[in-house]
Amino acid sequence: MCGIIGFVGEEQAAPIILSSLENLEYRGYDSAGIATISDGKICLKKDVGHLEEVQQKHHLDELPGVLGIGHVRWATHGGVTANNAHPHLDCSGNIAVVHNGIIENYRELRSRLKSKHNFISQTDTEVIPHLLEDYLNDGASLEEGVIRVTKQLQGSYAFVAIYSREPGKIVAARQGNSLIVGLADGRKFIASDSLSFLKMTDQAIFVEDGEIVVATKDKVRFFNQDSLELEKSPGKIDWKWDEATKQGYDSFTLKEILEEPETARRALMQDKNLVMDMALGILRARQVVFIGCGTSRYAALLGRYVFSKFGGGFSPVIIASEYPYFSESIDSNTLVMAVSQSGETADILEAVRAAKRKSATIFSIVNRVDSSLARMSNKVLYLNCGPEIGVVATKSFVAQLIIFYLLGFAIGNKLDEGLDKLAAAPSWIAGNHRENGKGLIKLAWKLRKRKDFYYIARGTNFHIAGEAALKLKEIAYVHADGMPAGELKHGSLALIEKGTPVIAICPEDYTFHETLSNVEEAKARGAFVIGVSDRREDVFDKWIKIPKVEEIFYPLVSIVPLQLFAYHSAIARGLDPDKPRNLAKSVTVK
Ligand code: G6P
Repeated sequence: MCGIIGFVGEEQAAPIILSSLENLEYRGYDSAGIATISDGKICLKKDVGHLEEVQQKHHLDELPGVLGIGHVRWATHGGVTANNAHPHLDCSGNIAVVHNGIIENYRELRSRLKSKHNFISQTDTEVIPHLLEDYLNDGASLEEGVIRVTKQLQGSYAFVAIYSREPGKIVAARQGNSLIVGLADGRKFIASDSLSFLKMTDQAIFVEDGEIVVATKDKVRFFNQDSLELEKSPGKIDWKWDEATKQGYDSFTLKEILEEPETARRALMQDKNLVMDMALGILRARQVVFIGCGTSRYAALLGRYVFSKFGGGFSPVIIASEYPYFSESIDSNTLVMAVSQSGETADILEAVRAAKRKSATIFSIVNRVDSSLARMSNKVLYLNCGPEIGVVATKSFVAQLIIFYLLGFAIGNKLDEGLDKLAAAPSWIAGNHRENGKGLIKLAWKLRKRKDFYYIARGTNFHIAGEAALKLKEIAYVHADGMPAGELKHGSLALIEKGTPVIAICPEDYTFHETLSNVEEAKARGAFVIGVSDRREDVFDKWIKIPKVEEIFYPLVSIVPLQLFAYHSAIARGLDPDKPRNLAKSVTVK
């Protein structure tokens, strides 16, 4: 999946497109490119590498013209090569296209087209400009061509096309992938995400599946696939553009971890009636099923525990990509709780569509107000944590936990009590940052050559072991296992040798003594033991101190130093924490 942008205005387009792409880079950063129209010709530059590298090498911002398209890529079809980078052209070089998504029937289309067309990439995308080429050569306008192309495509897409013979116009289409139009006087944007144009305008219109957009500098028109014009009006994007900048920090990841006290405060700002309403919906449902991917799934695992503790019953947590395989057991009495920072993860959207087909009710916990998931849900609680740009989820996880606690207290009809108790969460987290900052840097440097880490814990803390291990894998490229402490002796203990780091999350709660027994077992085999606890123990080679809190809240305070540890481990290993290799923040392909 990738980030796409189209711009048409009165001034030079390329510098604007370049700056928009900087805010889309979290979606993909293995290649980048821009195409503009000038003097009746397409001008194109693209290459592999981060946007900054491609810019330094090719001076993308010097492309001439007042209209253009840009792309940052996360490879799906075809390796990371300059030819596979977008924009893609037709044979004549008059049409350029950027695309996000997957054209599932591209092989059939390509074999049908290849006798007449010259394909130079291995991408699925390249069928689009070649299909367009045939329609435009037949005399269709760019928008007519795009409508005809959409009828040929299967799969998911958001794409933007330009045509050198209609040089004042950009045309886009959406099916399954996000697309938003930004409106300012004399300037129009069509992009994957409003963050890309927020600095220039907060007026936006969401494009829905099956819609086609035609933008000139003065006007935007919307059509359906039957060419009927649609009436749509703009709304205001609530975020401020500077929330999506580093604001002096070395990286977004560090900034976002250090923002967590504020994140907790903002996550607590919920409409109490809505929280109670959702709690009642949860209690009334015949079954509640959680779905999520990556970090959001770990938050859901904690949600399951919280719901069970407060009387919401036992609920399965299903990885979103596996969910459609369980669809037989979903019906109109099922409540699906979908958890997602972006609200655009393809696996989640697909699972929610499958659940909706079975008439299930959808509640979601989402950060992006403008997201597809939010718009597909019956009820939504927002994380309110502002833009999260670092590819690894950090502050959004903290916000997700807070919301699950609130829902848990609401299920137990104790929402006010929960709000009172959680009012202290920002200071727990801030204290934690202060207490552990320097020690974690030293620890990360000491362990920077280690290649295997084991995170162990029991009960609710087990999910933190999983999430903390995921953080280390994602940004420090280290093998890490997060496992129930009791399970270590059933296999993984064979891998522990002298100096192997074992991180035990063992606050002084109902899991404390049993987890410590497992720690002793690892220590006896030579493990280097790092204890994350409010109580120091001799068996710890290194103690990461967390505050003493009520049992149920330990996950909230344990994850914070472990996120920081992963961050410092990335730095100690010379890695860029904001752009881990092979990953992207918003995975909009299945
Ligand atoms: C990607 C990101 C992860 C994230 C997951 C789910 O894999 O790299 O950090 O946890 O998607 O994202 P979501 O936006 O649905 O929470």
